[in-house]
Amino acid sequence: MTTSPDYLDLNRALWNARTAPHLASDFYAVEAFKAGKSSLNGIELAQLGDVAGQRILHLQCHFGQDSLSLARLGAQVTGVDLSDAAIAAARSLSAELGVPAEFICCDVHALPQHLPDTEPFDMVYMTYGVLNWWPDLARWAALVHRYLRPGGRLVLVEFHPLVWMFDNDFTHLQYSYFNAGPIEETEVGTYADPAAGIVHQSVTWNHGLGEVLGSLLHQGLQLVSFAEYDFSPYNCFAHTVAQPDGTFRIGPLGNRVPLVYSVVAVKP
Ligand SMILES: C[S@@+](CC[C@H](N)C(=O)[O-])C[C@H]1O[C@@H](n2cnc3c(N)ncnc32)[C@H](O)[C@@H]1O
Repeated sequence: MTTSPDYLDLNRALWNARTAPHLASDFYAVEAFKAGKSSLNGIELAQLGDVAGQRILHLQCHFGQDSLSLARLGAQVTGVDLSDAAIAAARSLSAELGVPAEFICCDVHALPQHLPDTEPFDMVYMTYGVLNWWPDLARWAALVHRYLRPGGRLVLVEFHPLVWMFDNDFTHLQYSYFNAGPIEETEVGTYADPAAGIVHQSVTWNHGLGEVLGSLLHQGLQLVSFAEYDFSPYNCFAHTVAQPDGTFRIGPLGNRVPLVYSVVAVKP
């Protein structure tokens, strides 16, 4: 597989540019979060169980709302993200709210250099829009395995790879379900604020469920649960229709396709 040599620089610039509009957006509702509202949705809450006292590694934590929501529930959280703007905002939120968490700014692939000799974690937690930034899921699964203690769990909640096959307007299939190499796009605005005046390149990869689950099984992780959901808790696609319970579907697709999936896997 070929990858653009500068993909990390492009993606870092994208996420740095997105951070300020995200902090100001209704989508992320930072003022409500500061007032005590959790950013965790029903899907992940159902997978998490009681996290009090657990050591959690939160990969691709963006500006840390989920990290701090987990910390508010009593977890000891280490959040990791590529974007220095996002990590600066996460540290600032943590300090302002008096909710302690550790934040590391680095490429996930480089985490072993930044976090070399840590006690292993009880949980690796990752949600919504994370795996498509990894060129190679074998490296992802190896990293998850490296940082979990025996008996520790991966909790992953992710947008379904089927969604990423469509064009942005959901009129036709544009991309392969499988990882067919880097997808280079120009992003105008952002999912949290389409009117934000930013234009940036992104480099992502599609990963089918066979690749996701297969790479975890290859590391010897055991699948505890897997589920698909016909809704998204986030209003982050075109042509969404709000459901009475506050979740969203994509109008032309209705409830006929999965939009999100969840995986819990344990390291034996
Ligand atoms: C869609 S966001 C994750 C959303 C998150 N669940 C939230 O609460 O907002 C994806 C995150 O992945 C991060 N990211 C992308 N590539 C990365 C990499 N190579 N290493 C570390 N973080 C990366 C981005 O900076 C961004 O914050």
